[in-house]
Order: sequence, then structure tokens, then C-alpha cells
Amino acid sequence: MKIVSTIASLKAAVAEARKAGKVIGLVPTMGALHKGHLSLVRKACEECQFVVVSVFVNPTQFNNPEDLRTYPRTLDADTKLLADNTNADIVFAPSVEEVYPEPDTRQFAFGPIAEVMEGKYRPGHFNGVAQIVSKLFYFVEPDKAFFGEKDFQQLAIIRQMVKDLNLNINIIPCPIIREDDGLAVSSRNTLLEPQFRKVAPHINATLRASVFKQTYLTPAETIDWVTKEINSFGNLELEYYSIVDGLTLQPITNWSDSSYVVGCITVYAGKVRLIDNVCYKS
Ligand code: PAF
Repeated sequence: MKIVSTIASLKAAVAEARKAGKVIGLVPTMGALHKGHLSLVRKACEECQFVVVSVFVNPTQFNNPEDLRTYPRTLDADTKLLADNTNADIVFAPSVEEVYPEPDTRQFAFGPIAEVMEGKYRPGHFNGVAQIVSKLFYFVEPDKAFFGEKDFQQLAIIRQMVKDLNLNINIIPCPIIREDDGLAVSSRNTLLEPQFRKVAPHINATLRASVFKQTYLTPAETIDWVTKEINSFGNLELEYYSIVDGLTLQPITNWSDSSYVVGCITVYAGKVRLIDNVCYKS
């Protein structure tokens, strides 16, 4: 496995693989790799003959400077984990100056799917995600790119971006990987102090329990129930819970409004912001 930090060396390695007729896969990450990322990389290695993993903490998608400052950066451990556990071919770990020699002033307009949930609570976040992911797509020109379903709205936005930019890239969704107690695996979990780590599995447990409520509660009543449950545990504070159409990401009023319904949640466990989601029907 090769580690490169410049766009030129990345492009040269990818060009050689493409010349050899290989299917190119890209797994974009911000590092602090864990078993969730490994599952993406393994899937990429199953489906592609040349796999690029990018490791870059993208400053433009953070709307909170403290969050950017404390985001875990563990490149040595990340490359070792990839080398020991996957067949990834190349790690692209550039500096901020390499990726953004000039400030990126592009403004993406994704419409209603970007205006709800994370789009509402983290203004500018998805614009930053689109800036970095589009750059990675231009650098690598992958045949397939792999994203986790934990970031449900991000996945929808990247699909929309690929359509809007007419890119010929197949976006492959990968299922959420969970700890044994149900907590969705996330780089942020390492920041949880013990009293918060202990209660964090209640997020997924509450979402799973809420799926059974749909036989006798409306979506609005289900949101109320989830809100009360989460806030009752102590050490957890719900930021939002939305029950939405899985394609448009717009809130539904009745369960019959859509055949694909997903609940998306954000909870603060102390200072750590955790997200998760659950499918009500598909
Ligand atoms: O999901 C993430 O880790 C990031 O948003 C991504 C897609 C790597 C872009 O920085």
C-alpha cells in the first residue's frame, strides 16, 4: 500500500491502474479510521481492482472551529490499520494547502434536501462536503465511490451532486456498522467520556423501539416519544429528530405519505454530537 500526499502522485498512480484496465474505487474519509471505515474499504476492494482511501480532515465542512480543532488526527494508526486489514492500494493524505491552494469559493445549491436536518443545524456543512468530495472525484475520477449510510443526508447530497455535475460515478451506499451495544461506530466515539459512552447506546435502542410505535402513533407523536425518551436518560440531549421521506428528505405527516420512511437523529452526549438513523419502511 502506497501513501501519497500530492495530487500529482495520486493522479499518476491512478492513471497507471486505469491504463491496466482496473476498476477504480474511492473511499473518502477524514481519518481516525475504525471498523466502519474498514467495512467500506473492504467492500471497495471486493468491487474494484484499485482502491484509493483518502484521509483528509476537511476544514471547509466544519462550522464549529472547536470541532475542527479537536477532530482526531491519527494518520500513522490509520495507515497501519488499512495495511493490516484491507487490500487498499493507495492512501491519499494531502495537506490543506495541497487541496485548497486558494480558498474554495464554490457555492453548491442542492435545494430542499440540503435545507433540512444537518443542513439547518450545520449551515455551510454540506457545501464544504460537496467542495471536498467534488475535488476528490476530479482528482481520482473513480468508477465507484463508497459512503456510509450513517450519514444518511450526506449520501443523498452526494448522489444529487453526481447528477448535477453529470459525473459518471457509481455511488455505493454501505450499511451502518454498530458496536455490540448498538452504538453506531463513529470517529467521534473516541471523544466520549465514560459517563456519556455508557448512555450513548440508548440512541439506537430508542430508535429501534420507535419503529414498533408506528402501528399506533403518528409520525409527530413518534417524534415526541423519541424526544422524551432520549432526554430522560440524563447525559443525552436531543438536538433534532426528523421522520422523513427517504428520497426527498422532507418530513412526512402520515406514515402513508411515503413508501420509504427514515428517522434521522442528532444527540449531544456531553460535547460530542452523535448522529444515527433508522428505517421505518422501505
Ligand atoms: O463522511 C465523512 O467522513 C466526510 O464528510 C467526507 C465524505 C470524507 C468528506 O470530508
